[in-house]
Amino acid sequence: MVKKRACVFISGNGSNLKAIIKNSRDPNFPVKINLVISNNKKAFGIKYAKIFSIPYNIIDEEKSKFEHKTLKLLEENKIDLICLAGFMKILSKNFLRVFKGKIINIHPSLLPRYKGLNTFKKVIKNKDNFTGCTVHYVNEKLDGGKIILKKRVEIKSNVEEMVKKSVQLQEHKAYSIAIRKIYNKN
Ligand code: GRF
Repeated sequence: MVKKRACVFISGNGSNLKAIIKNSRDPNFPVKINLVISNNKKAFGIKYAKIFSIPYNIIDEEKSKFEHKTLKLLEENKIDLICLAGFMKILSKNFLRVFKGKIINIHPSLLPRYKGLNTFKKVIKNKDNFTGCTVHYVNEKLDGGKIILKKRVEIKSNVEEMVKKSVQLQEHKAYSIAIRKIYNKN
């Protein structure tokens, strides 16, 4: 099987990056992580690119320079799929147009509920019994693209960090399941 070539964009912790890299080592996984891009030189997740010997680039610059350099790298590396994993920059219309239908993201709520930031605070405030995560295509609307997969998580605590922990545990499975689903390898 010829694997598709993926690039993961991160800004922070990189726990989803780590999970995708590990799952992608399965010969039947449809995607290989060929490149990691961080827009934050302090992102902890860069460590995982180093540990797993994946080429990485840190482009800690304003949007237009970031996108210009990134597009060049994506082209050079013949990237088929971009996985946003805790990537905190909003991509421009032009960038989205170039990679239309090829950018996916993971969001820590059951979309369309709780778009944007502070999703764990919101579920606690509303005393929800469950929440979850969503993998979706990225379009111009914030957290608004077509949904690929959702995973539900029961809320057993009203402590934000605990809710985050249980959601992230599911995220680490959901992202790879969604990638398999895209390429019909589920
Ligand atoms: C995840 O909770 C994801 O849903 C959100 O940002 C967080 C990134 O975590 N988009 P990590 O950097 O993968 O650990």
